[in-house]
Amino acid sequence: MEKKNIDWANLGFGYMETDKRFVSNFKDGKWDDGVLTEDSKVVISECAGVLQYAQTIFEGLKAYTTEDGKIVCFRPDLNASRLADSARRLEMPVFSEDRFVEAVVDTVKANIGYVPPYGSGATLYIRPYMFGSNPVIGVKPADEYQFRIFCTPVGPYFKGGAKPITIKVSDFDRAAPHGTGHIKAGLNYAMSLHAIVTAHQEGFDENMYLDAATRTKVEETGGANFLFVTKDGKVVTPKSNSILPSITRRSLMVVAKDILGLEVEEREVYFDEVKDFAECGLCGTAAVISPVGKIYDHGKEICFPSGMEEMGPVTKKLYDTLTGIQMGRIEGPEGWIKVIQ
Ligand code: PLP
Ligand code: COI
Repeated sequence: MEKKNIDWANLGFGYMETDKRFVSNFKDGKWDDGVLTEDSKVVISECAGVLQYAQTIFEGLKAYTTEDGKIVCFRPDLNASRLADSARRLEMPVFSEDRFVEAVVDTVKANIGYVPPYGSGATLYIRPYMFGSNPVIGVKPADEYQFRIFCTPVGPYFKGGAKPITIKVSDFDRAAPHGTGHIKAGLNYAMSLHAIVTAHQEGFDENMYLDAATRTKVEETGGANFLFVTKDGKVVTPKSNSILPSITRRSLMVVAKDILGLEVEEREVYFDEVKDFAECGLCGTAAVISPVGKIYDHGKEICFPSGMEEMGPVTKKLYDTLTGIQMGRIEGPEGWIKVIQ
C-alpha cells in the first residue's frame, strides 16, 4: 500500500480516520471470529451498558517503522494481558490474548499506508477497546460486548515534543485505594477530565496526582507514570496499587538496569522528597518520556536542575535507548519487538 499523503512531521496527538478497523462481538457467552471493516461507526442501543454505567476498557500501543524499513510494535502481549486484567475487574469477558496480538497485527497491516515513515517523528497509535453493548438498566454487567481496534497516526502527546513541561499537584484524586486506578478503564479518565481542564486553564501541561488516602505519596499523571533520577544517578519510580502498571515504565526499568547499568528502585515516593531529585519525567506509550522541568505545588515551585530547555542526561539516555529499541537501532531484550511486516 502506498504511503498516504500526510504531513507526518506536523502531526499532533489526534484522531484521523484510517481505512480499516477490527471488530469482534461477544454474544451468547462467546466471541465471534472478528472482521476488519471500513465502517468506522458504532451502532448500539441507547441503553447500552457503556452509555449508562461506563463499562468500557481500553489499551494503547504503537507501531513504528524501523531504520531498516520493517514495521513493528512494542510488547503487544503485555497490552493483551493488561486488557484481560481490566476486563476481569469490570466483569467483562476476556478477549483471547493471542487473538488480541493477531488482531493488532491484522489492523496495522490493513492500514500500512498510515504507518509514519522512519525518522518522521510520528508513529501509528493503536487503540484496542471493549465495551458493554446491550441494554442494561439495573446496575449489572452487560451480556454482550464489542471489542474493536482502530489506529491513527500521531505526533507528540505534549506540544513541543521533548521540551520539558510544567505540571501541578492536583487538588483532585484520580484513583481510590482498592479502586480501579490499576486498570485501564474509561471511568478513570472521565474522573480526570475536570482536573485536566482546570490544570490547562491555569497554564499547566498535566497534573501530578497524590495518593487519595494520605495525599503524601506520588502516584501518576492522567496518562503516564513518573520516573525520577536521584542526584547520584539512581532511577526511582513510584510503587502503588492504584496506578496503571505502565508497560513503558516497566520496560524502562529493565533498560536502566540491564542495558545502561543504572541502579533502579521501585518504591513509595513521598512528595516531600521530590524536590531532592535531579530529573523527573513522565513515561507512557503516548508520552514516550516527557521531561518535567517544573512542578507547581500551591504557590511553591520545584524546579529540577535539568531545567526547562532540555531533558536531563539520564532521562535522555533512557529516551534514546528505548526509542532506539522501538525503531530498530538497538537490539532489545528477546520478545520485546513484534514484527508486523
Ligand atoms: N498511566 C496512565 C494513567 C495511562 O493512561 C498510561 C497510558 O497508557 C500510562 C500510565 C502508561 O502506560 P503504558 O506505558 O503502558 O502506555
Ligand atoms: C497511552 O499512552 O496509550 C494512553 O492511553 C494515555 C492517554 C492519555 C492517551
